[in-house]
Amino acid sequence: MKAKVTLAKEFKIGEIDKRIYGSFIEHLGRAVYGGIYEPSHPTADENGFRQDVIDLVKKLNVPIVRYPGGNFVSGYNWEDGVGPVEKRPKRLDLAWGTTEPNLFGTNEFMKWCRKADSDCLMAINLGTRGVEEARNIVEYCNHKSGTYWSDLRISHGVKEPHNVKTWCLGNEMDGGWQMGAKTATEYGRLALEASKVMKWTDNTIETVLCGSSSRNSSTFGQWEVESLDIAYDNVDYVSLHQYYENRADDIQSFLAKSLELDEFIYSVICAVDYVKAKKRSKKTVNLSFDEWNVWYHSNNAPYERWSVAPPRLEDIYNFEDALVVGSMLITLLRHCDRIKIACLAQLVNVIAPIFTKTGGGIFEQTIFYPFMHLSNYGRGVALKPLVDCPKYDCKEFTDVPYLETIATYDEEKGEMAIFCVNKSLEEKLCVDFNMLDFNGFKVTEFISMDGYDKKAENNFDNVSVKPHSNPVPQTDNNILTVELQPLSWNVIKLSV
Ligand code: AHR
Repeated sequence: MKAKVTLAKEFKIGEIDKRIYGSFIEHLGRAVYGGIYEPSHPTADENGFRQDVIDLVKKLNVPIVRYPGGNFVSGYNWEDGVGPVEKRPKRLDLAWGTTEPNLFGTNEFMKWCRKADSDCLMAINLGTRGVEEARNIVEYCNHKSGTYWSDLRISHGVKEPHNVKTWCLGNEMDGGWQMGAKTATEYGRLALEASKVMKWTDNTIETVLCGSSSRNSSTFGQWEVESLDIAYDNVDYVSLHQYYENRADDIQSFLAKSLELDEFIYSVICAVDYVKAKKRSKKTVNLSFDEWNVWYHSNNAPYERWSVAPPRLEDIYNFEDALVVGSMLITLLRHCDRIKIACLAQLVNVIAPIFTKTGGGIFEQTIFYPFMHLSNYGRGVALKPLVDCPKYDCKEFTDVPYLETIATYDEEKGEMAIFCVNKSLEEKLCVDFNMLDFNGFKVTEFISMDGYDKKAENNFDNVSVKPHSNPVPQTDNNILTVELQPLSWNVIKLSV
């Protein structure tokens, strides 16, 4: 099969906010305990942070990590997680049916972020709690000194404020599974008031309003409009969450989910801008896609109720999942003019690119690599490619382009990268990239993941599903010709 792609500097979609390569750590399963924090692990530092985990997080180059939930946050008392560890209470976590020992909390997480070269996207509890607790945690984290909460932080050994810049106003508040779920109007009012006093406490912060818990949620659309109608002037972002699955073992429909994702993003932009227009507002509310991934392999795994940090949501990812994750990231970048934050959910053990054994080893899941490539090389501006390629029909979609692609251009560094997925199960795709005004470009590397069984996975003994380098493809004047293997993830790095 053949395809043509045209690229030019003028085809700019927008600046890529580095926070689009964010991730997520929730007090859930072994994300914290046995994941980022395991004092008895041979690689643990003086804080109990696993160094082997930090090393892989650094490879992923994750600029922001959402914390502490997720569903967990809707019942969390942040005060339980600060101060002398021996005085911290154990609590039932009703979100995940486990016991939370509170050995790790806000200050530990902020320290971990610094070690991992990351910032924190902090979520507050608007399920069982409200405005008072919201302002208190901002004062605890961000106020320098001389007040009750800031001095309490200092008495906990943290002299300098954390200066958390961005705050999520609760989590999935439309969902019946959420402690303290709300109607759109109830939530809109609470989010408005919480955001208002949080910003009065620290006028440099930004806040994220909860959108619907997914596109499939019955509240979707109406929730965004109704809650934003109330809170628009006081919030900076609206959140989106979406997970995909392949229970039907229909790889063609699974790979085509990025089309649905594209539509989902577009419809949220429409809902936000409808409220903007209705209010005759000059302010633009952007998008925080703060949970996205493939999630379904582990859903029915048994666990011991009320135990501490049992294995939960431990999806082991395969090669087709990596292609879907790559396609999802490409789709997010296609909307980087409006998506400023996105979080791969999650980071370690729980539906995650990094997998550990408690007390033991670690490995990179298949989905680790497309994320690593985009996060490291997909910087600068995103360019909209003009694509002419064959398409396929499948059970859930029609007219699915075999080629999913995006280009990024970092003018300052003189670097460019083109990311491609070939969704054909059998056929190679020969792509001519017409590099209009990129005179004198040079291909520096051509990396791919291909040739694997679609269900191939990595494990502790064998990380076989991983990228490899290929011979540098041919160029003829401004035409770059690249052959993409069937079912493949591809990265073409160029100097410009
Ligand atoms: O990421 C796992 C869970 O998925 C989160 O806790 C929740 O927000 C979502 O439903």
